[in-house]
Amino acid sequence: MKDLIRRAAEDLMGAKRAVALTGAGISVESGIPPFRGSGGVWERIDPMEYGHIETFEVNPGRVWRGLIQELKDIIDRASPNDGHRGLARLESMGLLDAVITQNVDGLHQAAGSTDVLEFHGNCAWQRCMDCGEKVKSHDVDVSTLPPRCLCGGVFRPDWVFFGEDIPPMTLQRSQQLAMRCDLMLVVGTSAVVHPAAYMPVIARDTGARIIEINPERTPLTGTISDYLIRGGAGEVMNALIAELEGMK
Ligand code: OAD
Repeated sequence: MKDLIRRAAEDLMGAKRAVALTGAGISVESGIPPFRGSGGVWERIDPMEYGHIETFEVNPGRVWRGLIQELKDIIDRASPNDGHRGLARLESMGLLDAVITQNVDGLHQAAGSTDVLEFHGNCAWQRCMDCGEKVKSHDVDVSTLPPRCLCGGVFRPDWVFFGEDIPPMTLQRSQQLAMRCDLMLVVGTSAVVHPAAYMPVIARDTGARIIEINPERTPLTGTISDYLIRGGAGEVMNALIAELEGMK
């Protein structure tokens, strides 16, 4: 791993416009389960039953009880780990322009990253399905599920369910960042959900170097990415930051 850390540090130092794409894996060390793999949310419950907008519309109470409430509670208790802090540190060192994240937990912002694109929305806000009123999740009364707005409509998290579009401005800017970057760090994503997983492909097609950080191989490994640094995000980011600081 040491050689790859050195290589990644040199690649970052040589890059002019680096961006990161992150997924659930970066928040695992904060106690938030991933979606796939052992202990994953979708190993326990069916994504089409709990993660799809159509099933939410049919039975929002069931989705609140089976998924949203639990995830919201876990996220409420979570704080950033060395992976999030490492990316924020790269930004403050002038080595990373932005983070595109599929995560809804807000931990990149909590760690200090200032330009975060929430590709799948976030869990911090709830939106009324009828009148569109947006309320901070903390202020929503969850004593009966699904929680309801004063107008009587059902509250839903301000995240992207399967079957919904990515917020257009977020998608557009993410694509621009992917097209213009010359290095993309792909951290803790299985890279199987599109269009997020296209971002490294776009970056690669326009000549960027792609570095994966993940304990496991992904569909990008050996095809789209230049190399994979195998390991947990916290451990790898700590080693990378130490290497970069030693090079100053
Ligand atoms: P996944 O759960 O699909 O993948 C998590 C990835 O993190 C896997 O590749 C793991 O090997 C890796 N991983 C596990 N522990 C790690 C660690 N400590 N450090 C680094 N990596 C680690 O999560 P996503 O790729 O984010 O979408 O999933 C993409 C989307 O699928 C989510 O945003 C969500 C989900 O359904 C929606 O809900 C729309």
